[in-house]
Amino acid sequence: MHSYQSFVELNPIVKSAQHILVFTGAGVSAESGIATFRDALTGLWANNDPEQLATPEGFLDDPARVWGWYQWRRQQLAGCLPNAAHRAITKLPAQGRQVTVVTQNVDDLHERAGSREVVHLHGSLLATRCFDCAALAQVPVSAVPLAGEAISPPACEHCGGMLRPGVVWFGEMLPQDAWSAALAAAERCDLVLVVGTSGLVYPAAQIPQLAWESGATVVHVNTEPVPVAAEREFSLVGPAGQVLPALLESEESMGSE
Ligand code: OAD
Repeated sequence: MHSYQSFVELNPIVKSAQHILVFTGAGVSAESGIATFRDALTGLWANNDPEQLATPEGFLDDPARVWGWYQWRRQQLAGCLPNAAHRAITKLPAQGRQVTVVTQNVDDLHERAGSREVVHLHGSLLATRCFDCAALAQVPVSAVPLAGEAISPPACEHCGGMLRPGVVWFGEMLPQDAWSAALAAAERCDLVLVVGTSGLVYPAAQIPQLAWESGATVVHVNTEPVPVAAEREFSLVGPAGQVLPALLESEESMGSE
């Protein structure tokens, strides 16, 4: 899964880190049963066209297709639970560190596991707002089993416009406050755990690189090996639900071996 040597080398670094930035992607929620985007067979973008489902143009082209797909994802999320990776991250603050979770995920599994400071760079499946006037709206998760079928979006109660999911689509700006918080954390952290992301979507993918340039150690946790720089960068290969608990919860036993 990962080399014992890496753990031995990382143990003192993890132990002494004062500000840890945990930067997560879809892989951290994969073991909760939520599909990633780019995994070859199961990824959402392997089986669906992101142009149709994750752009403002795709929404305007067929609002019911897009709204129905996100309602299905919201319903799926309601039936999922945080996994061992989400839980391991919550153990860090108890060990006296400052921890900022910056996630690209639109689920709420970090929060449900108990993480307090969670920055959502790509919005949230739980949020809904008007496409036209941006007013926030509350839309209950459907009690009827959904399969991604077309469902017309409800109308905004303020302006009558179409409601849309509160996620960031391709071509849209990231929420300014979330981006600023992520940049600030990248600048001040001394350790970054980059968990379950392909690192292909910008600007989010800049965050680990910026932290490394500011002097932080970067540790990737991914089922695939990640190419690393010569210094201060490590790749731990394996499912996040196994690697993170081993790295974050067993520091004492690692240290004494
Ligand atoms: P991707 O689907 O691009 O990448 C998921 C990564 O997780 C891959 O590198 C996998 O190897 C890894 N992985 C899969 N299962 C894992 C596991 N159990 N443990 C650890 N790693 C695992 O997802 P993201 O990088 O999150 O944007 O994608 C970035 C953005 O692209 C998303 O936020 C989304 C998408 O379009 C928006 O919605 C705006």
